[in-house]
Amino acid sequence: MTFPITRLRRLRKNPILRRMVSETNVTTNDLVMPLFAFEGKNIKNPINSMPGNYQMSVDLIVEECKKLVDKGINSVLLFGIPDHKDEHGLSAADENAIIPQTIRAIKKEVNNIFIIADICNCEYTTHGHCGTIVNNDVDNDLTLETLAKQSLAFAYAGVDMVAPSDMMDGRVGRIRMELDNNGFEYLPIMAYSAKYASGFYGPFRDAAQSAPQFGDRRSYQMNPANSDEAMREIELDIEEGADIIMVKPALSYLDVIRRAKDTFNIPVAAYNVSGEFAMVKAAAEKGWIDEERVIMEILTSIKRAGSDIIITYHAKDIAKYL
Ligand code: PBG
Repeated sequence: MTFPITRLRRLRKNPILRRMVSETNVTTNDLVMPLFAFEGKNIKNPINSMPGNYQMSVDLIVEECKKLVDKGINSVLLFGIPDHKDEHGLSAADENAIIPQTIRAIKKEVNNIFIIADICNCEYTTHGHCGTIVNNDVDNDLTLETLAKQSLAFAYAGVDMVAPSDMMDGRVGRIRMELDNNGFEYLPIMAYSAKYASGFYGPFRDAAQSAPQFGDRRSYQMNPANSDEAMREIELDIEEGADIIMVKPALSYLDVIRRAKDTFNIPVAAYNVSGEFAMVKAAAEKGWIDEERVIMEILTSIKRAGSDIIITYHAKDIAKYL
């Protein structure tokens, strides 16, 4: 039926009707808030390029988690900034390392929260790469061992889900095996499956003090030009036991999110990364965009593209608009 019988504008006039026919709705259930844990007490270091985000000591992270839960944000993704680093990133797996400490403290004091921990070595290595260096490059198979240890340590501390973000081949399978062999068969893995070597991680690396000290991450993270390869990465991660797969960053990769959703029958997460967050904040600060409106549009687009879960630094702010 064409014009004048059909007039698509009919459903756009009334705001209640507009909401009823809205195809995509972002809710607080979809959102995960990343947090940066720092050694010490009563510490809250602002992250300059990520306004409203802080490196926080464990005591303050616990308080922050309580506030998030009050606002309806029931899931956090933890990153750790250790007080000492080593060549392999092994310190991450100590039972008293920053993330195990943080997990135990949150679990003890906060109800109704789901804790996800990022699994990677870059915050813990002296050189800032995501694994053990051999001949100037990250050695895949040696790195699998530190990732497995880290995952198990976080599991013992009580984490609810692990999220490997290192992009080594075979890490999901190796971590799955480690968890299963130690009685954690029901601990889910959310794999950063299609993680691109992106310029959008800059602010995060300041926050996590994890910038590589030489070279870059292009020998392990994906080339932004590739989407077929993303499907192969996802397929392999699913075969190795991933329960949720992730595309990261989100906004320049909405096509990859959609393709993943159409290709695989598995929950899809998207990471709305630090650089994407920083651009919105900077433009809003200058008064060039309407912050709330743009954030909602961005989150809606990520969901519309096919993402079930959105990891976003906007989670805390946006909870009040939802
Ligand atoms: C660790 C990791 C990174 C991010 C999440 N996990 C940084 C990187 O790969 O350099 C980036 C998150 C963001 O930019 O918000 N490997």
